[in-house]
Amino acid sequence: MSVAINIKNLSRHFEVHDKKPGLKSSLKSIWNRPKRIVKAVDDISFQIKTGELVGFIGPNGAGKTTTLKCLSGLLYPTKGEVEVLGFTPWHRKRDFLKQIGFIMGQKGQLWWDIPPQETFLLNQAIYEIPDKEYKERIRFFRSALNIKKEISIQTRKLSLGQRMKCELVAALIHQPKVIFLDEPTTGLDVIMQDKVRDFIRDYNREFKATIILTSHYMKDVQALCRRLIVIDKGKIHFDDLLSKLKNGPGSQKTLTLTFKDEVSKKDLKGLGKIIKYEDLRVTLSVKRKNASRVASQALEKFPVTDLNIEDIPIEETIKKLFQGQ
Ligand SMILES: Nc1ncnc2c1ncn2[C@@H]1O[C@H](COP(=O)(O)OP(=O)(O)OP(=O)(O)O)[C@@H](O)[C@H]1O
Ligand SMILES: [Mg+2]
Repeated sequence: MSVAINIKNLSRHFEVHDKKPGLKSSLKSIWNRPKRIVKAVDDISFQIKTGELVGFIGPNGAGKTTTLKCLSGLLYPTKGEVEVLGFTPWHRKRDFLKQIGFIMGQKGQLWWDIPPQETFLLNQAIYEIPDKEYKERIRFFRSALNIKKEISIQTRKLSLGQRMKCELVAALIHQPKVIFLDEPTTGLDVIMQDKVRDFIRDYNREFKATIILTSHYMKDVQALCRRLIVIDKGKIHFDDLLSKLKNGPGSQKTLTLTFKDEVSKKDLKGLGKIIKYEDLRVTLSVKRKNASRVASQALEKFPVTDLNIEDIPIEETIKKLFQGQ
């Protein structure tokens, strides 16, 4: 399979000026402005194959949006090489721009004072989409996203979910081959999140589009992505199959045991790490591969009335990754 996105040693630094509050420091800062370099993206490399849908996650300020801006040509990098569909993004060649789409959940491209369909028409002209195709695509989006009257209502009057659906249309009307989705589900209710997720999945499959998705909801990533890239403080901390995070050698399960009579902490020693210890109930963390053995040992040794084995939520594993563990 061909490579759609190739990033080599990409860095993007920002120079920021620190200023203390108050008039005195404002005056002082005219002559003396202390500078600081923020390494928003710090020497990252990865490749994404054509048609892949990759999750790109990290805490606030990790460098996700900055990376996507470099990939879409909105920012020059400080260092490094980037190729998207064979183009250097910041040259902003017309043929390149026609093949990419960028959706920023926080900052849309729809014009506020006109209905979405007017923005769609504007994009039709910009991307030179023939009338017949344009109409077909609008029909496709209306049914795929269940859009009704909202496209003819002034954008500023739409709800967040209605606007998000129209943002997707505006950004995808030219059928881009590479799509950058920056938090497309933020602020949406659970039903709308599901709909947007389904739409992204179908779009990826139907058009073989290459997609990078950032989100703060692990559910988005779990539902859509096989591969996950985790970034923090501008550095990549994980880049592999999501299943490896869940089932890797260090992965754990929780074992919750409910007892008829109290069992002391001392007696439980050796079974696993005690996470929670209540009157008649205890939760242990055990290695995935040992879970069933530990469960049968517990059943044999103690007056167990209930037993529950669960995967550690993926959020916990991710949290550890963010903390560099
Ligand atoms: N134009 C800019 N000038 C100065 N600093 C910037 C600029 N843009 C981003 N930064 C800084 O770069 C770092 C990375 O920001 P970025 O927006 O890429 O994070 P993010 O991973 O998208 O976070 P979030 O999840 O909050 O959207 C932050 O420390 C941010 O303050
Ligand atoms: Mg961001």
